[in-house]
Amino acid sequence: MATEETLVLVKPDGVARGLTGTILARVEAKGYSLVDLRLVEPDRERLEQHYAEHAGKPFYEPLLEFMMQGPSVAIRLAGERVIEGFRSLAGTTDPTTAAPGTIRGDFGRDWGLKVQQNLVHGSDSPESAARELQIWFG
Ligand code: RTP
Ligand code: MG
Repeated sequence: MATEETLVLVKPDGVARGLTGTILARVEAKGYSLVDLRLVEPDRERLEQHYAEHAGKPFYEPLLEFMMQGPSVAIRLAGERVIEGFRSLAGTTDPTTAAPGTIRGDFGRDWGLKVQQNLVHGSDSPESAARELQIWFG
């Protein structure tokens, strides 16, 4: 069986705060493999594809605005059960209440933009991972 892959994004807040290395260190310490990595300034079209499932929700427009504030680091990450494993490392969506020990719990909080600024993204299923890896890596 081919090793599972996921899309991880270090979002603009993580890049701007200089946390990319710290986040990569946690991923590597967990034992996952970096397959590809790039700094990307996504245009609106790419973000509309990526966040299609959230179109129309109240946080959709602020989310896209936030994601266009600066570059993200896109990472193709591989390993057994890496999809659920990375989401466990990331912590729950709201960084204010995410558990300490997780990326969001240790480094994130509400800066006045609700929960948009939560440092990282991780695909939530094999189908999402395949779709999102195509969007960010082609
Ligand atoms: P992600 O997709 O980024 O890994 O995060 P997630 O699965 O934990 O969260 P999801 O529900 O997929 O939401 C995608 C991103 O939208 C922003 N969000 N804001 N109520 C809000 O203001 C709200 N809810 C979600 C966050 O940036 C979240 O990561
Ligand atoms: Mg999600």
